[in-house]
Amino acid sequence: MRATDYAKIVSPLLAWYETCGRDLPWRETKDPYRIWVSEIMLQQTRVETVRGYYERFLKALPTIRDLSEAKEEELLKLWEGLGYYSRVRNMQKAARTVMEEYDGVLPPDHKQLLSLCGIGPYTAAAVASIAYSIPKAVVDGNVLRVITRLGADDHDISDVRFRNETADLLDSIIPQDNPGAFNQAMMDLGATVCVPNGAPLCDRCPLKKLCRAHRQKTELFYPVKKAAAARKIEKMTVFLIRDGDRFAIRKRPDGGLLAGMYEFPHAFGWLEKKEALSFLKELGLETLRISRIESAKHVFTHKEWHMWAYEARVGEGEKPDGVLFASPQEMLEIYPIPSAFSIYKERIGVIL
Ligand code: ADE
Repeated sequence: MRATDYAKIVSPLLAWYETCGRDLPWRETKDPYRIWVSEIMLQQTRVETVRGYYERFLKALPTIRDLSEAKEEELLKLWEGLGYYSRVRNMQKAARTVMEEYDGVLPPDHKQLLSLCGIGPYTAAAVASIAYSIPKAVVDGNVLRVITRLGADDHDISDVRFRNETADLLDSIIPQDNPGAFNQAMMDLGATVCVPNGAPLCDRCPLKKLCRAHRQKTELFYPVKKAAAARKIEKMTVFLIRDGDRFAIRKRPDGGLLAGMYEFPHAFGWLEKKEALSFLKELGLETLRISRIESAKHVFTHKEWHMWAYEARVGEGEKPDGVLFASPQEMLEIYPIPSAFSIYKERIGVIL
């Protein structure tokens, strides 16, 4: 399909969005900060999950200044369970830049937005178009699905060149007077009608008459995407180490996966009971009782943790360096502990 053909989607799409667009909390504002927060949260996370986090985050940190000054632990705690924690760390770095260089207001300029930490082409276009009515098109998985189905286009959507070409194409048709609505209409159509899993709901689609894949009944063949590399599997053994009603946790290093979050101590590999006892002894702990508890699996983007686990009761003596003993209440209120450990948190009563 040519750009002139794609241009025909604009008016039916906007009419559909008027009546069928979703009611979402971040659509009730033009505040660039709020829109930015919503877009960062939505990057790898479903709308329904984001709703609660969004309100709580903005209640705790209502302005860019508040974000720029927040303590690491508070920040990570507000993000706990959303995953991809570098998102919120980068957001704080960007907030500091905005305080220093832009008087505390996100710049109304696509290039300047792009230069901020953690803001890529997608987020820059979303904030620019929704908050400032700058005509820049967003391109994400939803948009690419809609576009490749419309054109029965079998380009690989993970190919950066194709993504760039799609961005140029959409930039050429995005309405100058309502770019934010156009972008959000594409997202909503992709999320609610031209859906990713199972058959799309073409009966409800405002673009079905323009859609080549629909005419060919080949909607399910698009988008084409190169298979992802297999995830690496990491075997590990997690310890719920209990002293009275407190449990051992430790802070992860400042860089890398889950940087700065807290975790239950663990060893690499799957340890049999004897090896588990040696591990605890090496930590400097006297084990009074130990038992195997349920295993767990957690899937990250590029790796999987396959976890064995033990619950161990230890004596009151000296505690190892770098390990602190916290009550379930303190874990709930103060220490950010990632969802990878959810079943172990639940087991000891750390439940949101
Ligand atoms: N996904 C990412 N940003 C979105 C938005 N503004 N509306 C709906 N879904 C989204």
